[in-house]
Amino acid sequence: MPVKINSTKDTFHLTGGNTSYVVHIDSERDLLGLYWGPALNNADITYDEHDYMPGASFDLPASLKPFEIPTPGNGYYGTPALRIRNEYGDDITELKVVSFETYKGKRPLSGLPYIYTENDDEAESVEFTLTDSLTGAEVKAVYTVFNNCGAITRSLKVRNCSEKKLVIEDIMPASLPLWDGDLDILHLKGSWARERSLVRTPAGKSEYRITSERGASGHEENPFFAVLSRNADEDTGKVYSMDLIYSGSFMDSVRSDHQDHLRMGTGMDPDVFSWLLMPGETFVSPEAVLVFSDTGLNGMSAIYHELFRTRLARGKWRDRSSPVLINNWEATYFDFNEQKLIDIAEKAMNIGIELFVLDDGWFGKRNSDDSSLGDWKENRDKLPSGIKGISEKINGMGLMFGLWFEPEMVSPDSRLYREHPDWCLHVDGRKRNEARNQLILDLTRPEVQDYVTGSISEILRSASIGYVKWDMNRNMTEYYSGSLIPERRKETQHRYMLGLYRVLEKITSEFPDILFESCSGGGGRFDPGMLFYMPQTWTSDDTDAVERLKIQYGTSLAYPASSMGAHVSAVPNHQTGRTVSMRMRGEVAMAGNFGFELDLSALSEDDISEAKDLVTRVKEIRDLTRTGRFIRLLSPFDGNDAAWMFVSENRDEALVFFYRTLTTPNTAPVRLLLKGLDPDASYSDSEGRTYSGSVLMNRGLTMRTRNSFSSETVHLKKTDMN
Ligand code: DGJ
Repeated sequence: MPVKINSTKDTFHLTGGNTSYVVHIDSERDLLGLYWGPALNNADITYDEHDYMPGASFDLPASLKPFEIPTPGNGYYGTPALRIRNEYGDDITELKVVSFETYKGKRPLSGLPYIYTENDDEAESVEFTLTDSLTGAEVKAVYTVFNNCGAITRSLKVRNCSEKKLVIEDIMPASLPLWDGDLDILHLKGSWARERSLVRTPAGKSEYRITSERGASGHEENPFFAVLSRNADEDTGKVYSMDLIYSGSFMDSVRSDHQDHLRMGTGMDPDVFSWLLMPGETFVSPEAVLVFSDTGLNGMSAIYHELFRTRLARGKWRDRSSPVLINNWEATYFDFNEQKLIDIAEKAMNIGIELFVLDDGWFGKRNSDDSSLGDWKENRDKLPSGIKGISEKINGMGLMFGLWFEPEMVSPDSRLYREHPDWCLHVDGRKRNEARNQLILDLTRPEVQDYVTGSISEILRSASIGYVKWDMNRNMTEYYSGSLIPERRKETQHRYMLGLYRVLEKITSEFPDILFESCSGGGGRFDPGMLFYMPQTWTSDDTDAVERLKIQYGTSLAYPASSMGAHVSAVPNHQTGRTVSMRMRGEVAMAGNFGFELDLSALSEDDISEAKDLVTRVKEIRDLTRTGRFIRLLSPFDGNDAAWMFVSENRDEALVFFYRTLTTPNTAPVRLLLKGLDPDASYSDSEGRTYSGSVLMNRGLTMRTRNSFSSETVHLKKTDMN
């Protein structure tokens, strides 16, 4: 039983994998978090209020009480998980548990992305109902624990059971006390073309916030973060981590109280969120995922990867390897016609590529980024036979056809904008800030949602389209909807996300065979929310192989290789000017959903044959890179070498990737200590060399690669498999 309840029915032990999480209802009917960490045999934690009494009589006990849903006004002075402003103008909320319910499996979250179960034995849930008797606020705190991996999900449902208005000003579905000291914070910071760099900093004496106010999870921060032991590394040490299944603005917080206890939490960013809750209405928060590991960051990542790949991603493509693609963006940008595209596709077909993707510029009169977003009608000057015609020609070559859209946007120079100037996010009387010459459609409005759904679906119905790249190239500035009353204006960002999720649900359900890839100026919305609708995301607009090592390494903290789009592009690289061998570019891209994004006709004979070889190799290994356990070996953030490996579930096969950016002459070869193999098995590489698993993990595998900008891949198979 993953949710064990003690005989007095006040202590709840959620356990799975190597983890325990203990929640307790105390004598005042407060819901308290007593423990999160390595699995306990028995959660016989006796709640003793002396554990929480302040050192001096100045403070109320509540200032230190380990609330699961801390609220203001009762002596707790930290960051609240829930702040509800009532009609009297105050925000005092005293949440007392009135009942609980346990059940097998997990229920869906309506209108929001969530982790699901496929059968009820995978997980167990407990829902606590708490009420504030004075205001009539009712809160359901929903917890689910997954048997095998110990991941925990949490969400909150707030219902107004009174006759008066309530306003939710802050809401964090997960907030909890930690019980260790000497902790660091780790998060993923970046910018356009430099997404998800690792930032590790000691947890201090105050509050550390990781936020996005952009109306998107953003390039700059990611909702994933971890608090980990100071000595934790990739393979050892305790890691407490959270991710928010949401694609909009968010706030993660790590806050130390006056006795240096840390509390971590994740939820909505209160600067850009509030929600008016009318009598009888319910607000459902996004869901948080909590992952604990006592085997370092690799242990943590393994749990996220499996969970996100198999119980967040959905649909046909969840369980299939992505086709090898070629995308025309960096090959042509806006300057193409049908013949040019057909030429690229023919060359692609000759080297075994399976999917041709037509990127930006196929619609309206879009020859640069200054027009036509919203006008989803093909440009017949560029494509005389239309999308239908070109898709048939591409299909005729044996390739799938894919198409780019940026459905959430409108160009001021477009028919759509001329007809509906009020359909963008804006505030009357203020400037409509353009970014990349575009405005954001107001997806809070049902008629705009319907337009987007209708116009995109029409194209998808009209031709044989097997793949869609769903792009989004700017963040919100005037994040207010003119259609909302002033009291509700601060709901705009969240209503936008709900509108977007509604559109995505409709389109992805109507076209279950299409492989959808999400994108936002590269990886500006690489979050679990989008992965619910689209199993893969374009990781970054930076296709430079050396930069990609860091971007993919950082992304891999929480997100599986199967979710990362990774392409081989031309050299000198368009973002960095660097020249890296075709082989290294390919071996970096092989660790994700592999593709090309260059003009194949500009390649030398040697590069074409290398490209062909890469495609053949990708087809051999892609099931392993999709489903195998991904393990980080050497960090590109620590030096000039990087390495990672994939190990099949039964440990029969492993694929090791080693990359060298800059070499130092006359240094010893690198011996990579492999991980995750069967120590008792013997493995051989493609050249017939044989090694024992324990030797590979303890003495290591010697890398032959020495030169700058080079890479090496070693495919190991258990000897009796050969
Ligand atoms: C941003 C994306 O990340 C690129 O791959 C490309 O699709 C451009 N947008 C097109 O405008």
